Amino acid sequence: MSGNVRPETMERITNSELANAFIDEQVAQLRAEIKDKKVLLALSGGVDSSVVAALLIKAIGKQLVCVHVNHGLLRKGEPEQVVDVFRNQMKANLVYVDAVDRFLDKLEGVAEPEEKRKIIGGEFIRVFEEEARKLDGIEFLAQGTIYPDILESDGVKAHHNVGGLPEDLNFSLVEPIKLLFKDEVRVVGKALGLPDGMVYRQPFPGPGLGVRCTGAITRDRLEAVRESDAILREEFDKNGLAGKVWQYFTIVPDYKSTGVIDGKRLWDWPVVIRAVNTKDAMSATIEEIPYALLQHITSRIIKEVKGVNRVLYDLTPKPTGTIEWE
Ligand code: XMP
Repeated sequence: MSGNVRPETMERITNSELANAFIDEQVAQLRAEIKDKKVLLALSGGVDSSVVAALLIKAIGKQLVCVHVNHGLLRKGEPEQVVDVFRNQMKANLVYVDAVDRFLDKLEGVAEPEEKRKIIGGEFIRVFEEEARKLDGIEFLAQGTIYPDILESDGVKAHHNVGGLPEDLNFSLVEPIKLLFKDEVRVVGKALGLPDGMVYRQPFPGPGLGVRCTGAITRDRLEAVRESDAILREEFDKNGLAGKVWQYFTIVPDYKSTGVIDGKRLWDWPVVIRAVNTKDAMSATIEEIPYALLQHITSRIIKEVKGVNRVLYDLTPKPTGTIEWE
């Protein structure tokens, strides 16, 4: 495999023709390197791992074993989409692991953000390791490393780096998109036939909805995060904001306030909406959302999401507010 430095002569992949040339070259290289051996990949459904999966499926088909770990902190419909796209449509060899209870039990009562991250990251490695040990004859581990990960090895992605697999599982690494920038990964993903919803999706943190259900995660409040996030995404899609806003999501903090419905007082959670634009996630500005749309989203959330009686819009830029709430 090539080194970790992008050659100056490497053309930026901006269209399907260049993407197809990249794909053909990678497929040939992957076949030559992997031969008849098996490759393992942790497939989250994010852009990077999905593109690596699609490339490897094209190159080596069922010699690729994808493992999708559902840790219970994914967005609404995500695990189903991974199964549908990769198992049903692309006929991949996909192991789906329902680890929801395992993660949520481990996280019970844990309120400190970095401790939550460590538990989620550490448990993920353990689940993946267990699956890897069940499989015979794996020689390679594929990863969705991209060029910014190499350039900024202590940048944004690094703070969920919890180490890797134990040393006795010393697979050789396969990193076919490690010299690509994010926009190029998307062009390649599109050329590989991945759905737009997967290719153009907004960044999503490794610990998932766990950092948006602040403090100690409870299952009912986590559901409120998932449902309100699904409403926000649906409305942003419908109203042409999805491609315009870099990252948008909801948070459900771990406190309640008084509300009233039909003359009855209620003690329920607020939902906070966050919608930011940024170039590098180091600083961020707030997207201006049409007021009528904010009101519509508010009314849907308070009607449709259980346990919620208020909706707030976070107007804080970064700095001072980080993009996520914890
Ligand atoms: P903050 O909240 O630090 O976020 O302004 C900057 C960007 O990083 C994402 N983020 C994470 N990504 N693991 C990740 O993979 C994490 O633990 C994590 N925390 C924040 C965040 O969504 C934003 O895009």
